[in-house]
Amino acid sequence: MGLSGLTLRGIWFLLCACLVWARPVKRAPLEHLQTTRHGDVAFGLGNRTYLANIRYPKAILGGNDRATANRQGSLVPFTVVFADSEVVTAQYLLDVIQGYSGGDDVFSKDFLEGVYIGNNGTSSSQTLDASALQYLNDLSPQHLILDVSFESSCYPTDIEVTYLGGLDDANNLTAGPYAALVSEDSVTFGTVYRLYRDSYRNFLYGAYDSNDGEGTFSPVEIFEPKFWDPMIPVPSRIYSWGDTRPLAGYRVAIKDLFDMKGLITSGGSQAWAEIIEAANETAPSVQRIVDLGGVLVGKYKLAQFASGANPWDWQDEHYPFNPRADGWLTCSASSSGGGCSVAAYDWLDFAIGSDTGSSMRRPAAVSGTYGNRPSQGLMTLSRVMPLGAATDTAGIFSRNVHDWVRFAKNWYVPEMCQDTSTTGLSPLEAPDSYGFPKRVLYLTDYLPLRNPAAEEVLQDFIQNLTTVFGMTVEDFNLTAVVDNTTDEVPKYNALNNATGVINAMTQYRQVGKPLISAWREQYEGRFPPIDPAQRQRWKVYDESLYTDELYNQSLGVKRAAVDWFESEVLYSTAESCSESIMLWDIGTGGLPSYREESLNSDPNTTTFLAVTPPTAGINGASLCPIYGCVDMTIPIGQVPYLSNVTFVEEMIPVTVSVIAKRGCDFMLWNMWEKLADEGVLKTIKTGRTAF
Ligand SMILES: *[C@@H]1O[C@H](CO)[C@@H](O)[C@H](O)[C@H]1NC(C)=O
Ligand SMILES: *[C@@H]1O[C@H](CO)[C@@H](O)[C@H](O)[C@H]1NC(C)=O
Ligand SMILES: *[C@@H]1O[C@H](CO)[C@@H](O)[C@H](O)[C@H]1NC(C)=O
Ligand SMILES: *[C@@H]1O[C@H](CO)[C@@H](O)[C@H](O)[C@H]1NC(C)=O
Ligand SMILES: *[C@@H]1O[C@H](CO)[C@@H](O)[C@H](O)[C@H]1NC(C)=O
Ligand SMILES: *[C@@H]1O[C@H](CO)[C@@H](O)[C@H](O)[C@H]1NC(C)=O
Ligand SMILES: *[C@@H]1O[C@H](CO)[C@@H](O)[C@H](O)[C@H]1NC(C)=O
Ligand SMILES: *[C@@H]1O[C@H](CO)[C@@H](O)[C@H](O)[C@H]1NC(C)=O
Ligand SMILES: *[C@@H]1O[C@H](CO)[C@@H](O)[C@H](O)[C@H]1NC(C)=O
Ligand SMILES: *[C@@H]1O[C@H](CO)[C@@H](O)[C@H](O)[C@H]1NC(C)=O
Ligand SMILES: *[C@@H]1O[C@H](CO)[C@@H](O)[C@H](O)[C@H]1NC(C)=O
Repeated sequence: MGLSGLTLRGIWFLLCACLVWARPVKRAPLEHLQTTRHGDVAFGLGNRTYLANIRYPKAILGGNDRATANRQGSLVPFTVVFADSEVVTAQYLLDVIQGYSGGDDVFSKDFLEGVYIGNNGTSSSQTLDASALQYLNDLSPQHLILDVSFESSCYPTDIEVTYLGGLDDANNLTAGPYAALVSEDSVTFGTVYRLYRDSYRNFLYGAYDSNDGEGTFSPVEIFEPKFWDPMIPVPSRIYSWGDTRPLAGYRVAIKDLFDMKGLITSGGSQAWAEIIEAANETAPSVQRIVDLGGVLVGKYKLAQFASGANPWDWQDEHYPFNPRADGWLTCSASSSGGGCSVAAYDWLDFAIGSDTGSSMRRPAAVSGTYGNRPSQGLMTLSRVMPLGAATDTAGIFSRNVHDWVRFAKNWYVPEMCQDTSTTGLSPLEAPDSYGFPKRVLYLTDYLPLRNPAAEEVLQDFIQNLTTVFGMTVEDFNLTAVVDNTTDEVPKYNALNNATGVINAMTQYRQVGKPLISAWREQYEGRFPPIDPAQRQRWKVYDESLYTDELYNQSLGVKRAAVDWFESEVLYSTAESCSESIMLWDIGTGGLPSYREESLNSDPNTTTFLAVTPPTAGINGASLCPIYGCVDMTIPIGQVPYLSNVTFVEEMIPVTVSVIAKRGCDFMLWNMWEKLADEGVLKTIKTGRTAF
């Protein structure tokens, strides 16, 4: 910075002789729509809607009294540009603005109503050359503010130029579009968010960083009655162009199961939302995303209390829409809004969700996105509403392999792992391994896919996978292998029982019981109004049966199964993190599964979700919740079907599920990167078709 940061130079108005009349430039005016409860402002600009954070602005330039400065003046769309050269040319400004238009979905030229040119170089004196002056004259912004380093030249322009110093404050200011309050002696820059309509109704509501210095989030309280959609605030990507943190500027949706400070964590239940307070801290897993530079844009819908409820059993929330195919397919459960929103919106990069029994993997399968259930214990679930503490995990939805891996490698780090007292398992080691597997185990108890066209897509993928990594393929019947073990190894019935205990107890104790008793007290003995999935379970829950001892025993059963699995089935060798990987399908086998129950009644052309094949001893979704392994959903293609909703042919995504030994998550991610580089895996499109 060229000037001493503490020198507040005040403002100098230089009204130079008007030599050239500026051409009038047509810019859409800012249309004030609404001031929120907290003093933030929604406005229209052109055909877009924006939200400006006025309450806690990004930066204030000039002004002696901060307390009063930021509330005065009129709101003006502003563009902030930085220049580091001594002579600033029209070409420089043009390139910068063109870069903004091309690289950001929030900026528009309507923000050029105010222009601030800051100095981010080392020179204490800068000038605008004649071409730059001409350019600015043609632009004729209502306000032109230059850093004091430009002050030494008197410019013959017909626009009023204001010079502002106080560079200590400007340090917070980054390039990009703003909504600014311009007063006599100060300019207050409020962060702007473009408000996107969540037209697939995947979110509960939008949220944004309140910038209060305490890490609090504010909910978007703006509603357009013409549509019934939440409005999701998305900040300019330009703000993070100079930010070197690994997730800088990535926009992330959060399942409403994770705490975000200042927001209610509803778990998809209005009753629960009614009895609890807003979270007073952000979940560590979510805070890590913020610390890495990620931008949280809102809370998305989930099956209530993270259950596996079918679409037609959702009562409290309106079931989210899947953008794929005929728009009437299931989003699955419980991280439904996460997979479907990543499949729907280019303006969203990732969604974070949880998987206890299938809740990342199946929503990824039906939306044709990348999604993972990590190894048990890879991510802390502190301040996340639990289902079964020893079976819960947290995963990431993405459309792009390299982005997904970048996110994962920065998010899942050793200090975020769970303690063995939570998982009940041997310590987790998760090396960033390039020790790839030697064998593909094709699980014959779950495959082939029911739709032969989809099986063809899978076979092509297997061909490509094994070619790239030099692997062999073997048919493998896991049910037979488990059946065939000695008595010491727990079988599926015992494992189903143990998982049932684990999944029932934690949530009942932390959510069900307090909700039921609070409701009973508040509403004359009534049971809370909740969806059917948990109503019966909680109604008949017997505390005398579900003891700490039983929980402990159940963890012991699970532990014995995992130890066997990791020594006999998927194990590490000197050369491979996981000697083999298993392929199966958590999705629909290439058949449509509709959100409307009766449309799924033809068993030959449609399917329900979570159907256990007659040749399998257990639902495939339960394998990794039991064995602690990593299971990822990988989109590999699409197949046609005749829609009973649009009555034309539509394309449905085909995905494959891939299981590796617990701790080999990064081995899989390194494989996906290699397959993406080889062109085998693709970046997924948003909208009706994934490819
Ligand atoms: C919004 O305005 C832009 C620029 O004026 C225009 O290109 C675009 O087509 C408009 N979009 C809609 C949906 O009207
Ligand atoms: C600039 O950032 C610092 C640190 O984040 C903060 O303390 C200060 O209040 C900010 N200034 C403005 C004007 O927002
Ligand atoms: C100054 O900002 C411009 C435009 O944002 C950028 O291209 C340039 O790298 C920055 N220079 C420095 C020294 O930060
Ligand atoms: C958050 O609230 C809980 C009780 O509801 C309290 O125990 C805890 O100390 C609070 N944390 C902070 C950071 O205020
Ligand atoms: C797998 O093994 C189980 C148990 O032995 C058997 O019932 C089933 O038919 C087998 N499935 C296939 C496809 O071979
Ligand atoms: C069952 O176990 C026996 C003896 O350990 C072994 O020979 C056989 O191959 C096993 N069968 C399967 C399907 O794993
Ligand atoms: C599983 O639980 C059921 C019902 O509680 C019980 O009857 C059965 O014996 C259990 N099975 C095993 C293998 O633990
Ligand atoms: C659970 O088991 C562990 C050891 O496996 C033991 O230390 C602990 O006391 C047990 N707790 C209960 C409630 O049985
Ligand atoms: C869906 O359409 C097919 C014809 O393509 C028809 O045979 C079937 O009965 C329809 N199913 C439902 C549930 O409407
Ligand atoms: C499904 O296919 C089977 C075998 O092709 C056929 O026998 C049956 O009638 C079909 N069911 C329906 C509802 O079309
Ligand atoms: C994948 O395999 C198929 C044939 O099995 C081949 O036609 C195709 O080119 C391969 N794709 C890539 C990207 O290697």
